[in-house]
Amino acid sequence: MAGAVRNISKISRLLSSSPSTQQLGDLQRCFLRCMSTGKFENILVEKRGEKKNVGLIQLNRPKALNALCDALMKELGTALDEFENDPEVGCVVLTGSEKAFAAGADIKEMQGLTFSQTFGGGFLNHWNRLASNKKPVIAAVNGFALGGGCEVAMMCDIIYAGEKAKFGQPEILLGTIPGAGGTQRLPRAIGKSKAMEMALTGDMINAADAEKAGLVSKVFPPGELVDAAVKTAEKIASHSKLIVAMCKESVNTSYELTLNEGMHFEKRIFHATFATKDRKEGMTAFVEKRPANFTDE
Ligand code: CAA
Repeated sequence: MAGAVRNISKISRLLSSSPSTQQLGDLQRCFLRCMSTGKFENILVEKRGEKKNVGLIQLNRPKALNALCDALMKELGTALDEFENDPEVGCVVLTGSEKAFAAGADIKEMQGLTFSQTFGGGFLNHWNRLASNKKPVIAAVNGFALGGGCEVAMMCDIIYAGEKAKFGQPEILLGTIPGAGGTQRLPRAIGKSKAMEMALTGDMINAADAEKAGLVSKVFPPGELVDAAVKTAEKIASHSKLIVAMCKESVNTSYELTLNEGMHFEKRIFHATFATKDRKEGMTAFVEKRPANFTDE
């Protein structure tokens, strides 16, 4: 609310002068922030990075440790759609608070559901929106990433963790099992024995063990985590968005195909890059010893 008021005052200040082109840009950004502040109740959304080319989404239900209620997941889908359609944005960072990335699906919302409601209504099916994002998403995990929280982190392309992060699939303690990829993505990330141990005991692992197991690629002091994720996201966003999307699709396809099929798929995508202006520009820039100027074509 305070953010909305600040944005509205800034808009009125700018409108009462004769705004320059740069101020008009400020005005547009302010207006978008204002719209976003009013639109979402469970997440905060902004653009970060020197060139404002990183979309930052912060899960924001502090009282429920960012439990992933239906409204939050729908808002997350909308925010992802907006960044996906924003030509300025090349990469997204998804984070929570220092205490919790997300403590799982909302147990209070699930408590009364029946089999026919979950099966018939396709419960949690729309969560997959995150996994199908074309632009890369980096999860910056501080605090608890449990159940659906761990699964949401695993839907992202890269996971960075704060030193005090805790990952777990505690659904077994609630008399259920992971329902958004925990029994599928976790063994692929850390191997069967460790994944089975986590899913069957409900025990958590810490950031250092998650890094050792390959679930997480880097660990940072909690206060530095989001900036580190944004820095990596800026680097990714500086490349051709078209080629980044092709590369992401190729890596993700490795989970679905045999090695031979995967190699074939990769080769086809590799060949397809030769149909793009950005491939030509990238190689020409190298030969001419200058930075590449990608246009996402
Ligand atoms: N759903 C709903 N509310 C939750 C929640 C969740 N997953 N996790 C925490 N909360 C709420 C608590 O109920 C509490 O609310 P009240 O103040 O209204 O009582 C508030 O958040 C703070 O939580 P705690 O008091 O429990 O905080 P803590 O620091 O003592 O413990 C915790 C933290 C260990 C994370 C503990 O909250 C916990 O165990 N949470 C549940 C974790 C869990 O089981 N996650 C899996 C959910 S099932 C799932 O995700 C299915 C799937 O695969 C999609």
